[in-house]
Amino acid sequence: MGLWGKRDDTVVHEERPFNAEPVPDALDRHDVTPVDTFFSRNHADIQQLDPDAFRLDVDGLVERPLRLSLAGLRERFAVRTVVATLQCAGNRRAELAAARDIPGQVPWGPCAVSTAEWTGAALADVLAAAGLRPEAGHVAFLGAEAFGGSIPVAKATAREVLLAWGMNGAPLPPVHGGPLRVVVPGYIGARSVKWLRRVTAQERPSDNRFQARDYRLLPADADPAEAAQGHGLSLGVAALNAAVLCPQEGLPPPAGPVRFSGYAAAGDGRAVARVDVSVDGGRHWRQADLGEPAGPWAWRRWRLTVRLPPGTAEITARAWDDSAAVQPERVEHVWNPSGYMNTAWSTVRVTCVENGDGRSCGG
Ligand code: MTE
Repeated sequence: MGLWGKRDDTVVHEERPFNAEPVPDALDRHDVTPVDTFFSRNHADIQQLDPDAFRLDVDGLVERPLRLSLAGLRERFAVRTVVATLQCAGNRRAELAAARDIPGQVPWGPCAVSTAEWTGAALADVLAAAGLRPEAGHVAFLGAEAFGGSIPVAKATAREVLLAWGMNGAPLPPVHGGPLRVVVPGYIGARSVKWLRRVTAQERPSDNRFQARDYRLLPADADPAEAAQGHGLSLGVAALNAAVLCPQEGLPPPAGPVRFSGYAAAGDGRAVARVDVSVDGGRHWRQADLGEPAGPWAWRRWRLTVRLPPGTAEITARAWDDSAAVQPERVEHVWNPSGYMNTAWSTVRVTCVENGDGRSCGG
């Protein structure tokens, strides 16, 4: 068992704050990611809070401010379960950084994304109990270590947004925000605030630095410091993305039929419609088989078996959503100074070995 209960083979980018992602092979094994495999993204130390002493404040533009204990939340509101994928806005940053340097940011591979079954109360129900006032345009979240952000009221009152105390049928562990976090399916992971202490209805988006000055997408030629001045696009809704997880670079498969697989995830309110795979740099495409999603807010896992000759092969995948949006081709086209939202086609290069003793991933 590795740090914070993660698998021994977890890729730990930083121990403090703890930033870690699973190896592709491990992530590729499950529709619902086991807790020991789920990536973790933190900006400060993991908070260890006493669940019995825990209180959530609901305030701002509401008729009746609430202070809720964990037991109170469980008793007062209908318990809901949602399978949802969380994807960090920095997922696949390493591919961007390979094209052009991105100093001072975690070099995430393709596994800063995972899917869990979350259990909790609908934020909509809690806001209804507090009596949301019509002037409220946004709902802001604040975590115990001052990390925060907001989402528009229309999303905050949608049924899928949870105040979650459970993950995959067990109490939410501290590393994932226990005792309570918000889960905002379809949005970048940063809006799913952990160690949630306060929910505030307000007119304007959050001025918390992790929304007002961070998680902003700048034009390619901008100075990264401009984000801190509030320039650029404030990220919120997730974008269509997909990645090849198997085969893996460095694990050459034997020539012959090779199983390719990975994930595709759509942004808020969209569904993955198709995943194409090419082994000739995008001249020809085949359609991968899409697995049944574990729910409307879960990724689609895809697979395809292709016969590969001995030698080097380049495997590329791209997803389409139900609005016919498709991922952009090259990382150079989406490169941005802080390295967010790498949605470019995902490519893995492997050298297939002839005699069949190559190691591959998958199982
Ligand atoms: N909430 C708090 N309080 N502090 C954080 O650092 N990181 C955010 C979000 N919520 C963060 C947080 C980011 S950037 C992501 S991607 C997700 O948590 C990661 O959730 P996980 O660690 O459960 O995978």
